[in-house]
Amino acid sequence: MTHSPIIVALDFETAEEARSLVRALGVTAGFYKVGLELYAATGMDFVHELKQQGHRVFLDLKLYDIGETVRRAVAQIARAGADFLTIHAMRPIMAAAVEGKGDSDLKLLGVTVLTSFDEQDVRAMGYALGVSKLVELRVRHAMEKGLDGIVCSALEAARVRKITGPEAILVTPGVRSTGANAGDQKRIATPAQAIKNGANYFVIGRQVTRSAEPRDELLKILSEIA
Ligand code: C5P
Repeated sequence: MTHSPIIVALDFETAEEARSLVRALGVTAGFYKVGLELYAATGMDFVHELKQQGHRVFLDLKLYDIGETVRRAVAQIARAGADFLTIHAMRPIMAAAVEGKGDSDLKLLGVTVLTSFDEQDVRAMGYALGVSKLVELRVRHAMEKGLDGIVCSALEAARVRKITGPEAILVTPGVRSTGANAGDQKRIATPAQAIKNGANYFVIGRQVTRSAEPRDELLKILSEIA
């Protein structure tokens, strides 16, 4: 498949489980998200493995550290050939990440405000702005600092797109087909809604990875957005 908007989240404990899902999906999927759990288990080895198989890799590490550390870590990740990487959308971190990426093809995606934070959490951290204004501010900062895109909920994608303009890459998790088990996701959108709201890619995890027939489930999603 040449261009599919679907990124499959490999939220697994071991490389073996992730590998067997990748095998089951075959050519139906070509873009995988490696998050903290699998990264903690396999380090960059599994990223290299996916790249050697010709897949694209979204490394979801949500980096947040002092500039020098971020710069050096991003340079390593760029050298490993990862395609997308998440960092927190705060100015010093973004500036360091942009420097670390250099002229590689790595795309940096900003995480604005974690969706697990509510108004109370954000105010307790000292932000009087509230969640939605803080998201907007950080999207603006991300664009100013030269990030390639933003991770946001499908429900806020249209609002984010207005700020970023057409070039930014918007990636949205929390997407489910109508009728699929929502799991612990509260603010979900369907794949078609995510695309309609301006997302370029959406992340699908458990709907596919915990399905008895993952390939059929993925084909069903592809037909929904066709
Ligand atoms: O299984 P599910 O489709 O809910 O997984 C979605 C993936 O996207 C997971 O890897 C999860 O960590 C990530 N994610 C999310 N919601 C957010 C941010 C990230 O589900 N708001």
